[in-house]
Amino acid sequence: MPTFNLKINNKTHSVEADMDTPLLWVLRDQIDLVGTKYGCGIGQCGACTIHVDGVATRSCLLQISQAEGMHITTIEGLSEDGNHPVQKAWLEHDVPQCGYCQSGQIMTAAALLENNPTPSDEDIDIVMDGNICRCGTYVRIKQAIKTASK
Ligand code: FES
Repeated sequence: MPTFNLKINNKTHSVEADMDTPLLWVLRDQIDLVGTKYGCGIGQCGACTIHVDGVATRSCLLQISQAEGMHITTIEGLSEDGNHPVQKAWLEHDVPQCGYCQSGQIMTAAALLENNPTPSDEDIDIVMDGNICRCGTYVRIKQAIKTASK
């Protein structure tokens, strides 16, 4: 089995895995970064969203062989102390209900604000559209993104 050197949250991890192993499983099962969630496994729900070179990316669709050499950030590495503006806004608006999808929501929102610090309502709707929340916390998610963008 090949070995891959992955840069995750500013640390290098050497991991053995088949070439086509989804990064999601490497993060969760081999590196114990379980904040990234499995929802659908086919790129439809957004629960597994991470940043790859700063771009919001579905880790269930990214093979480990594609991830080598890239800067990967998971929810655990978004901030050192949970004080990223998006995380603070999430707390302020008490966004989560069951919480399962929230790390993916936060990672998508953080990437949005990195690229577009003052998004319009429409910008938020377009970018967040692919992150599904079965509890329906969409209104609070949007409020929190607007707070974090101020
Ligand atoms: Fe990756 Fe649903 S688990 S998009």
